[in-house]
Amino acid sequence: MIKIRNLWKRFGSLQVMAGLDLDVETGETLVILGPSGIGKSVLLKHIIGLTKPDDGTVEIDGVCITNLEGDKIFETLHDMGMLFQGGALFDSMDVEQNVGFYLTQHGNPKTKLPYSKKEILERVKEALNMVGLSGTEKKMPSDLSGGMRKRAALARVIAYRPSIVLYDEPTTGLDPITAMQINELIVKTQKELKATSIVVTHDMFSALYVGDRLSLIRDGKIAHIAKPDDFLKIDDPLIKFLYNTISKDPRSFKENSNG
Ligand SMILES: Nc1ncnc2c1ncn2[C@@H]1O[C@H](COP(=O)(O)OP(=O)(O)O)[C@@H](O)[C@H]1O
Ligand SMILES: [Mg+2]
Repeated sequence: MIKIRNLWKRFGSLQVMAGLDLDVETGETLVILGPSGIGKSVLLKHIIGLTKPDDGTVEIDGVCITNLEGDKIFETLHDMGMLFQGGALFDSMDVEQNVGFYLTQHGNPKTKLPYSKKEILERVKEALNMVGLSGTEKKMPSDLSGGMRKRAALARVIAYRPSIVLYDEPTTGLDPITAMQINELIVKTQKELKATSIVVTHDMFSALYVGDRLSLIRDGKIAHIAKPDDFLKIDDPLIKFLYNTISKDPRSFKENSNG
């Protein structure tokens, strides 16, 4: 479980987090909605320990990470993965090296031993299979389409088998078909890894497709948080606006496609 209490963060004169509280239950997919520049990425960076708050705490499975340093942070955060907004791959490495990157870098967090080459190759293969990119091992990122690059970046996260996965605008800038593939992969990843997932987005279609709960960030706080049906009933102009951006509720579609 992720427990955030009274989080404050300011950059110069800009107060980005202003006493934010948030609980994310183990195994759920929580969506965080909000317009650009509101602090969504900043919030994720606090959760993954890349940014320190001015005040407040972030607790991961009972461990407060806000005051940890160096190796201690790594120990606590080793089973977190983040799909960054750019989802960037390393241009000079092929797909296999990219997807195996964290495994090669960090080794097994439990035994503290490096992974064997064989084990890395197996995990890379499994992760590529999961995102539908089997056989692309020796391709360079420049040989892949934008959607394939995004899926390869997700395979890199999956290969590490994190129990918490953070997605920063995973569908932004993608065509609708690729965006749908990513939405399906977010659901699949959650199921296969039994992961706790946080998806930051301003894509209402994606939010309703993947989210167990939806939330809205405003004025440095979580303004609303609820299950999808209850969330859509909230009398808030921004929620109504976001809902009006989609022509069809993706949940009906999802039920049909799952049979
Ligand atoms: N390291 C930083 N230094 C200064 N300002 C920052 C920094 N990181 C984020 N900001 C500012 O904080 C605000 C929120 O940023 P961000 O979380 O990236 O927004 P978004 O909701 O679009 O992800 C923005 O105005 C951004 O410019
Ligand atoms: Mg952002």
